[in-house]
Amino acid sequence: MRPCRPLRHNCAIITLMFWNGTPMFSVAGTTVNQTQVTMPRPQKHIADSRFTLSAMMGPQDANHYGNVHGGVIMKMADEAGAVVAMRHAGLPVVTVAVDSMTFMKPIFVGSLVMCESELTYVGRSSMEVRVLVRSENILTGEQTLTNSAYLVYVALSDDGQSVEVPALLFDTPAESAHAAEAEARQAYRKQQRSLQEHS
Ligand SMILES: CC(C)(COP(=O)(O)OP(=O)(O)OC[C@H]1O[C@@H](n2cnc3c(N)ncnc32)[C@H](O)[C@@H]1OP(=O)(O)O)[C@@H](O)C(=O)NCCC(=O)NCCS
Repeated sequence: MRPCRPLRHNCAIITLMFWNGTPMFSVAGTTVNQTQVTMPRPQKHIADSRFTLSAMMGPQDANHYGNVHGGVIMKMADEAGAVVAMRHAGLPVVTVAVDSMTFMKPIFVGSLVMCESELTYVGRSSMEVRVLVRSENILTGEQTLTNSAYLVYVALSDDGQSVEVPALLFDTPAESAHAAEAEARQAYRKQQRSLQEHS
């Protein structure tokens, strides 16, 4: 093994050596083959990808009674969640699950609808996004929480394979608590998926 070039980096002495032509690094007395060196997984904060999608509801969005269609709300929630997942991953994503979409209050034509979306949990390639939907009477400013949902997205490579995304950093105890709940939901989804595949 032939020592080649000592480098000083972040106060550690790194020596570049060659073994049968393969570059090797010696860091703080530990020698590792270059092919074994793995980059640390990037990390991002929840706030880095948080997003709100807003739209005015018109007659085309509603039934004859003026209630906005559930499908319109679901499409908006999916789009808002996808933006969050794509922002986090920096990659295209697909939706793999829509959970617990609840319709608590009606939304009427003329309302402003806001889909507030943020990550709750990140696995290897999967990301759970919580979407809270509020409607606003623009004239009075009164806001109502109308829907909530959890959607799961998977980041894809160019060839359509699932790929690892940055890990999630938690800045508050509430964010950590939401992640623990989300991890349990994702474990349940995986279990259900496995049961479906084997039924
Ligand atoms: C996304 C897709 C490529 C994943 O393929 P796959 O063979 O299941 O890939 P993997 O087994 O590697 O799973 C990838 C991740 O998705 C997660 N996943 C897959 N199906 C899931 C489901 N129903 N619910 C929750 N998570 C799911 C896995 O748990 C895994 O998560 P992890 O990487 O964080 O551990 C494939 O399921 C697909 O193409 N689905 C259709 C997506 C679509 O058309 N959506 C509608 C339009 S956007």
